Amino acid sequence: MKVLIVGGGGREHAIAWACAKSSQVEKIWCAPGNAGIASVAECVPIRPMEFDRLVSFAKEHAVDLTIVGMDDPLVGGIVDRFEAEGLRVFGPRKNAAILEGSKAFSKDLMKKYGIPTADYTTVHSPEEAFAVLEKAHFPIVLKADGLALGKGVLICQNREEAEAGVREIMEEKRFGSSGDQMVMEEFLTGREISVLSFVDGRTIRLMASAMDHKRAGDGDTGLNTGGMGNFSPSPFYTEEIDAYCREHIYQKTVDAMAAEGRPFKGVIFFGLILTPDGPKVLEYNARFGDPEAQVVIPRMENDIIDVINACIDGTLDRVELKFRPDACLCVVLASDGYPVKYETGFPITGLETFEGRDDEFVFHAGTKFNEKGEIVTAGGRVLAVTALAPTLKEARSKAYEATERIHFANKYMRHDIGHAIDEA
Ligand code: AMP
Ligand code: GLY
Repeated sequence: MKVLIVGGGGREHAIAWACAKSSQVEKIWCAPGNAGIASVAECVPIRPMEFDRLVSFAKEHAVDLTIVGMDDPLVGGIVDRFEAEGLRVFGPRKNAAILEGSKAFSKDLMKKYGIPTADYTTVHSPEEAFAVLEKAHFPIVLKADGLALGKGVLICQNREEAEAGVREIMEEKRFGSSGDQMVMEEFLTGREISVLSFVDGRTIRLMASAMDHKRAGDGDTGLNTGGMGNFSPSPFYTEEIDAYCREHIYQKTVDAMAAEGRPFKGVIFFGLILTPDGPKVLEYNARFGDPEAQVVIPRMENDIIDVINACIDGTLDRVELKFRPDACLCVVLASDGYPVKYETGFPITGLETFEGRDDEFVFHAGTKFNEKGEIVTAGGRVLAVTALAPTLKEARSKAYEATERIHFANKYMRHDIGHAIDEA
């Protein structure tokens, strides 16, 4: 089987790595890929939103299956486009990817179907927003409606901050047109957990829980990022919480989408928060998380191609997902200054120390080859150093030891990924 993967970050590296392990796969391309993905796939210089070029490539090379890793092309309708061309593709159609693409849509869906989430109001103008603030409790959370690289969420402590936030999102359009509508939401407190799942339109199969570290600095300080590290499973995701979410959240979401005429096929990422009133949904994503994929996929024992095929064919009820009991933890190595301003182009050394290992991996996020053929930094998040071990604590020590084998100028990482493990 010939596979094309759309994307070029750490998540797509983990997906490509899993595809390369499948005995069914003879060839992998990745568009655009990166220098690490190039070790398991042939990278092609086509950007994820260039649907025409991707379709032509898939046809010309007789691609059997295209796997879309990223949110932008999914929300933009890449799956509908591939299907219209008779091409086999994994991911939700545009009318289902809206689960991630519009926060107003997902909040209304949860309200209509009784799925626990924070109370909210959707507004369409700054005037409406200011009127809501007259009667609001603080802190309040403001969310630009559409995709904003995970940055369109502002937590405002008081009315002044909230008014400034409304202006930023709805008047200055800091997050572009995704600020045309805005969700104003009750502030919740509790631990956050990510749960990934495969869905075939009707059946949902849960992967494993994970815990992200979104802030740039140690002690959960600094700006929000795409994620600075992660581990799986979360010791706070107990059987009791799992049972509650199975009853009130997971299948209900899948059924709600089907009832709305938007059957969801692909990966649903449930961003949960464990509040004193029980688990609630903070957000949905319509794809694997990044870096959640880097800690969940290495634990999966199934052939990823079998699972993806079952999602596309609607036969997921016949699949049982199997995960190794080993824990997995990843530490993101970033360019100093991320997520604001940083330099790139620095050579990376030590990558070869991971070759041939099946308990330590380095998934590439922002890397490329320079003209001398060296692997250099090419983004804010550069690498995800990942370790598998019998316990979370061991995985953490191993991952941190492994980070010391990698060198590049301006290397930055958090030193407390997995700190919550000590409180479990
Ligand atoms: P989202 O993109 O919706 O996941 O939001 C990004 C981050 O903002 C989440 O991971 C939370 O840390 C925080 N957040 C979002 N919504 C809320 C809320 N209602 N209460 C507290 N924190 C929130
Ligand atoms: N790590 C969070 C996300 O992928 O959205």
